[in-house]
Amino acid sequence: MSFKRRIIDELETVGGRHDEPEIYSGAPGDPGLAGGPDSMSWEINGDLASLVVGGSSAIIMEVLHPSVMAGVFEQSSYRTEPIQRAQNTLGYVLRTTFGTTAAATRVIERVKKVHSHINGTRPDGVPYRALDPELIAWVHTCIPWAVMNAFDRYGRPLTTAEKDRYLTEQAVIGRMGGAEWVPETTAELDDYVARMKPKLSLNEQTRSFIDFLAGDTGGPDAASTRKQVEGRLGLRGSMSLMPDWARHLTSTYHPALAQRLYFDQANRLQAGVVRWAYPELPCKRLALERCAPGTRVAAAATPEAVAS
Ligand code: HEM
Repeated sequence: MSFKRRIIDELETVGGRHDEPEIYSGAPGDPGLAGGPDSMSWEINGDLASLVVGGSSAIIMEVLHPSVMAGVFEQSSYRTEPIQRAQNTLGYVLRTTFGTTAAATRVIERVKKVHSHINGTRPDGVPYRALDPELIAWVHTCIPWAVMNAFDRYGRPLTTAEKDRYLTEQAVIGRMGGAEWVPETTAELDDYVARMKPKLSLNEQTRSFIDFLAGDTGGPDAASTRKQVEGRLGLRGSMSLMPDWARHLTSTYHPALAQRLYFDQANRLQAGVVRWAYPELPCKRLALERCAPGTRVAAAATPEAVAS
């Protein structure tokens, strides 16, 4: 098996394939919820490399809200079904961006139904419910924020206007998911993050969750020491997309020199390898086909075509 095929297989094992015709095809000309072929969302979320590099930091930022952390810690199967969870989360981002309007709406409604059962009490006694618009807004925001930063740094530099367009497009999805308000511009994002900062913290649940992400499950199924070191370096690299205070809070801070000499290189290499192996997501190819029948698809490279 070629090296490229192995990377494609690894990406698809962890993230899923996302090529279901019933989600991405049909409904000719339907641009879906995020703006269609000329949108920033299709450019940025169509870059699997940015989703991979930014993914960990989005998840870590989400769970810095102790209510989100409690919901995930107590009621998610992330420990027993981590791959399923990763595939469903990536699937949500891709379906809501590239799926037909009907398919995107369906997944949003299905996930809302799942969330309607996620209620409880935090270890510090505060009650939470996943459908609390404040929590939905925070989790929603962390995803485009991290992916946009990854694209901007390791894809192509974005202008402020392009970032604003992306956030505005993605905000539609956040509001449909149950948020009352989400930031739609970089200025609003900065203000919002500053307002949310006092509500964010790290507790035992967060520590254990971040350890788990790094492969330290605390049990016999823990990854090897080498894999855990690689895992921690990966989390650090991804968190370098986030503000310094969040990196200090999560013990993922490193000085600028280490960023230049190692982490930027590692992130860039990871992004480069993903783009080389997976130049176009199957769901984006199908969505382009849906919007422009018979033309752009012929030119689009599939991972299989490139690997062979
Ligand atoms: C816009 C914000 C959010 C998005 C996009 C999102 C996304 C998702 C997705 C895609 C699933 C998988 C559903 C499935 O199994 O197919 C899910 C499940 C879940 N979400 Fe969320 N979520 C959000 C907010 C939240 C919040 C605020 C909490 C906690 C307070 C939360 C806790 C959970 C839990 C516990 C599950 C069940 C996971 C499992 O079955 O293991 N989510 N969410």
